[in-house]
This record gives sequence, C-alpha cells and structure tokens, in this order.
Amino acid sequence: MDIATGLWDADPGWLNTASYGLPPRRAFDELQAVLTEWRHGSSDWKPWDASVGRSRAAFARMIGAPAADVTVSSTVSQIMSVVATALPPSARVVVPDIEFTSNLFPWAVAADVETVPPDRLADAIDGSTAAVAFSLVQSATGEVAPLADIVAAARAHDALVIADGSQACGWLPVDVDQGLDVLACAAYKWLMAPRGAAFGYLSPRVRERMRPLAAGWYAGAGEAYYGLPLRLASDARAFDLSPAWFSYVGAAPAIELLNELGVKRVHDHNVALANRFRTGLGLEPGDSAIVSVDAPGERLEAAGIRAAVRAGRVRASFHVYTTADDVDRALDVLNG
Ligand SMILES: Cc1ncc(COP(=O)(O)O)c(C=O)c1O
Repeated sequence: MDIATGLWDADPGWLNTASYGLPPRRAFDELQAVLTEWRHGSSDWKPWDASVGRSRAAFARMIGAPAADVTVSSTVSQIMSVVATALPPSARVVVPDIEFTSNLFPWAVAADVETVPPDRLADAIDGSTAAVAFSLVQSATGEVAPLADIVAAARAHDALVIADGSQACGWLPVDVDQGLDVLACAAYKWLMAPRGAAFGYLSPRVRERMRPLAAGWYAGAGEAYYGLPLRLASDARAFDLSPAWFSYVGAAPAIELLNELGVKRVHDHNVALANRFRTGLGLEPGDSAIVSVDAPGERLEAAGIRAAVRAGRVRASFHVYTTADDVDRALDVLNG
C-alpha cells in the first residue's frame, strides 16, 4: 500500500508542491468544520486558536526544537525582517545569488548583503561576516545546501546561521541541533497548510539580540489586551504575529500527520519518485524532492500535468501524495 493511501485526495498530475502543497483529508475536514462555525457564529475563536499551539508544538517536534523557541508568523519575509534587528548596522550578510527574495530582500534592506553562487557560500564566510542566510533547499533548482560545511565556516567566524526551510521542512529531515540559529519556514508548501502560517525557530542567543518590532497582543505575557505596561512573553512567543487562525486550523493536522508518518519515510518516498523522474529523462539520480530540468514544459501543461514552468525549465516536485503513476505520465508526455 502506498504511504498516502486513504489520507489525501490529490487529483493525478500534481507535481508542484514547491509552489503549494495539498492538504491531507483530515486537515481539509477540520478546516471545513471551522469554516462552518465561522459562517454561523456557533463558536468562540479560542478553540480555533488552540490550533496555533498544536501547530507550534508539531513544527517544534519536527525540527528537534523546544516549542518555546518557535515563533508563529505569516510569512518568511516577516520573520527574517525581525531577525534582521539582531544585526548591527552595516553588518555583512552572505546570501546565495539565486536565493528566493523573501530571504534576501530583508537583508538587503537592513544590512550589507553580498551574494555569491550557492556552491561558494561556505567559502565566502570570513571574519567580517555577521550572518549567512540561505535556503536548506533552493526553490529554483532543488539543490540541497551543504549544511555541515556552512555551519563549520560560520562557527569558525562566529557568524549567525539563518536558514529558510520552506522548501525542505516536511520532506528533508532537519534538526536545529545541526547548528542553526534561525530556521524560518512557510507552511503552505511541504507542510501542506493553507497560506498564512509560517514558523520561525529562534535560538536563545539570537533572541537576546532581537527587538520584537511587530509585537501586539498575541506577543504579550498572559492576556495582554489593553494598556501599558509593555509585557511580552519571555520566550519566542514575544515575536509572534497575531495568527491567521484558519491557516493554523489546517496546519496543525497536516504537520501532526507528517510527524506520524515520519519525515524520513516521506523523504525516501519523495526522493525515490524524483529519481524515477530523473532516470526517465536520462539524468543521474539526485538527493532532492525537487527536480529542475530543461524540458518542454508546455507539453505537460497541455496534458494537464501541473508542474512549474519557468523560462524553458520545468520544476517538478514530488511529495507524499505523489505516485509512480504521476511520474510515469509526466515522462510519457515529455519523452513522447
Ligand atoms: C525558499 C522560499 N522561501 C519563502 C517562500 C515564501 O516566502 P513568504 O512567506 O515571505 O511569502 C518561498 C515561496 O516560494 C520559497 O520558495
């Protein structure tokens, strides 16, 4: 039996989780139930808000972090923009030149950015580097970052290690103990939540330097609804954004299910399918769930197979609900 049997309702031909992921049935059902409550005014918001705590705990478990070190937000760029307050003025931040802009523009606004080819990232870290910011898996190419090399170079020069896990968490086993100071992740791709939920692991050493510039009632200690004094949570919740509730209602069951299935198992399933695709196109096997190839993407589109097609390249991505049949149909179209 396939890993996802009975748990998802994906139509055949979805090879585009790198754009957005499809909800497991239980997440869709929980969200529908809450939308019905919203429609009729039959519930207080507090049960919906419980999904935020569930999501935070499930994400923390997935990345080997205490829940108290995880903040909730809506986007990666929002998380990174507040992390940028940890940097001194004119700090040098090294970033891959093909980095997705949500993990590049915040540094360009707040710091002195140097971009380098992804394979030169570790070498570019030196005594003048305040932080290195990069995606664990590159959005454009699917390349998996050489994390151990980057962390070793950053440690040697006391630079912060700031990772974007949006294309990794959910299929690539990740543990913050691998040397991460920050791990931000948008939840609408491999974590299969509705858009509007994002998580940020903030290590205690980075939190000490950060200013909670977006703090509101949700970042408060206890019920901080009205008036001074400023009273913020003592953990990473001080950096929380008030949550888009419905996004978390969908996020919690999806992340919990990934933890139940096991990310390592999902990884093996996804990479096996990605390699079936690569082999079918005459490429060497790789180590990623995302494959970027020079191929006639318009043929896929015409055949109803949904992958990302950009500037003559096809970016196909393979997740837990993808089947061998999805891959073979795409290969038939591309090779036909
Ligand atoms: C690597 C990466 N980070 C972040 C995002 C989304 O960023 P944001 O949450 O700021 O919209 C994407 C979306 O494609 C992405 O690929």
